[in-house]
Amino acid sequence: MEIRIERATTLKEKPKAGEALGFGKYYTDHMFVMDWDRGQGWHDARIVPFGPIPMDPASMVLHYAQETFEGLKAYRTKDDRILLFRPEMNARRFANSNRRLCMPEVAEEDFVEAVTQLVACEKDWVPAEEGTSLYIRPFMFATEAAVGVHPASSYKFVIILSPVGAYYPEGVNPVKIYVEDEYVRATPGGTGFTKCGGNYAASIAAQVKAEEMGFTQVLWLDGVHRKYVEEVGTMNVMFMIDNEIYTAPCDGTVLPGVTRDSIIHILKSWGYKVNEMHLAIDDLMKAGHDKTLQEAFGTGTAAVISPIGELRYKEDEVTINDFKTGELTQKLYDTLTGIQWGDIEDTFGWTR
Ligand code: COI
Repeated sequence: MEIRIERATTLKEKPKAGEALGFGKYYTDHMFVMDWDRGQGWHDARIVPFGPIPMDPASMVLHYAQETFEGLKAYRTKDDRILLFRPEMNARRFANSNRRLCMPEVAEEDFVEAVTQLVACEKDWVPAEEGTSLYIRPFMFATEAAVGVHPASSYKFVIILSPVGAYYPEGVNPVKIYVEDEYVRATPGGTGFTKCGGNYAASIAAQVKAEEMGFTQVLWLDGVHRKYVEEVGTMNVMFMIDNEIYTAPCDGTVLPGVTRDSIIHILKSWGYKVNEMHLAIDDLMKAGHDKTLQEAFGTGTAAVISPIGELRYKEDEVTINDFKTGELTQKLYDTLTGIQWGDIEDTFGWTR
């Protein structure tokens, strides 16, 4: 794929070293853009100055939400190399999301090439402080101006970059989680396995409700029985019960997380039994009460690993590991981030 580069004539001031970056507060000087239409397919791949994208008010994405996205990060190593972590996994998941939403696929090598070239162009924006990275947000949306419901005849694929710190202000400290039994995130046959904006739009009401009740996030139950544990907030979720790991299977309603997959590989390499199965919330709460539930944590690109210190389900409440970050949770965080920032040898061959 040939990418035309148009450099910005004025560059933004970068955040100062040591400044709290937050998540998604700053954006770099350039973005990647590529267009698709039914006649030409993908064309005009370009890196251009970061800026507004003019849109027709009838653009289909604004009405029917044909939109998908990805999230990955670039990391600066101590010896000043820039690493990407398993970008081909994001490329594959992006293609799966787009197929489900009747949107055009981007070839895996083009997705990775676009990410790589944009990050190379913006390498000075990759922050160096511990725990910081350059968040990469590829996304695609329908641009055809039409208010009839059908697959659009034109789309844009865009990538923007943001230097970030921790996603949750809590960092790697335990959070309180409310088990949501009214709203659901996904149902079989739906879009739960995709990263589409609509999934996140529909989840916000539960998040607001949980926050109003004093919780950081929600634990999602399955949409049919309201019985089995699926995800936590915008993350996959794992539980250590009786020295074995439990996490929901990726069979349609759960997002196949890159962090989830990586943690499973690391756990298996350490000899842990990982059960990808439907775990009932009643069994989980019971394990919480009899203290066989040793640790619980969410996994995702943005927050990496987020320990769960407390679960509230209806009138029932359990505290996990005395509301402290578990030993395994911490070791997983240190190992995965060690690989991502190039401090630990990458025996899995994940970094580029
Ligand atoms: C992630 O945890 O990687 C996410 O997808 C969160 C993102 C929506 C900010």
